[in-house]
Amino acid sequence: MLIRTGYSPGEAEVTDKALWLDRRRFLALGAGGMVAATAWPAQAGPLAGVVKSPHRVDDALTPLKDVTHYNNFYEFGTDKGDPAQMAPSFFGKPPRPWTVTVSGECGKPGPIGYEDLIRPHRLEERIYRLRCVEAWSMVIPWVGVPLADVLKRFEPNSNAKYVEFTTLVDPERFPGQRGRMLDWPYVEGLRMDEAMHPLALLAVGLYGEELLPQNGAPIRLVVPWKYGFKSIKSIVTIRFTESQPRSTWMKSAPREYGFYANVNPRVDHPRWSQAKERRIGEFLKRDTLAFNGYAEQVAGLYAGMDLAVNY
Ligand code: MTE
Repeated sequence: MLIRTGYSPGEAEVTDKALWLDRRRFLALGAGGMVAATAWPAQAGPLAGVVKSPHRVDDALTPLKDVTHYNNFYEFGTDKGDPAQMAPSFFGKPPRPWTVTVSGECGKPGPIGYEDLIRPHRLEERIYRLRCVEAWSMVIPWVGVPLADVLKRFEPNSNAKYVEFTTLVDPERFPGQRGRMLDWPYVEGLRMDEAMHPLALLAVGLYGEELLPQNGAPIRLVVPWKYGFKSIKSIVTIRFTESQPRSTWMKSAPREYGFYANVNPRVDHPRWSQAKERRIGEFLKRDTLAFNGYAEQVAGLYAGMDLAVNY
């Protein structure tokens, strides 16, 4: 993975929500005036009926401005500022209707619309740390539904050992896909027991609002004990498989990125240490925590496994 810093998060401040909404309208009007201002409020707005989940860390929240302007989303470009800057191209076409196609080892495959996928579930706000493999981290109030609850509805069978996710391919919406920076579509996967773990979240919003394009609108994964690249954005397929999926970064650099990608301060990336991390908005580095601080909940999933071999 490249390390680039297109935007300096050092001067981060908490952005007042009204200002933020104005900024979104401004952004919508910008970018060559391609998108009508009205496109935004209709397609990204407040989420109703969200309950606070007990899954919340006490760490200070990362300011909204950083969460939405310091992003990794190579479909929009490789610089940290590209996703926010290019986001209007995503809303150039409406993100709804959005369909997710479920297939593979399950009793109820088929296409399902965003509303039907999410609506039967109660929306929860969970405050999670997200630790990027590039040694920076954030603390984000996500809104979403437990991934396990959603997956169960498709009745995975006993052959389903893994679940694979892919991101939309649409170079009109995702200018980064006009180049071959990665082998599109972006693919990620989890072992079935990881996917069924109560901490795994299918996120549809953050800071109480629907996800903006740069954060993976309208649906993305959040797996807080793993490096951020496992948290795939703008999901369009879910496939239950018997064999281990080959994820994008495994294909791109197999010696650097493995399937498990659990946050592990003791296993360095071949090109840099993972012992410390920079929390976006903070000056001093912090120690990286095993499993990103979620060891108590998830270490049992890997009992008996050599986590240096299974990186
Ligand atoms: N999903 C897709 N489809 N494409 C990407 O480039 N980047 C990953 C992950 N999900 C990525 C993706 C990486 S490296 C990180 S660190 C997180 O998204 C960043 O999520 P955020 O920008 O919402 O903080």
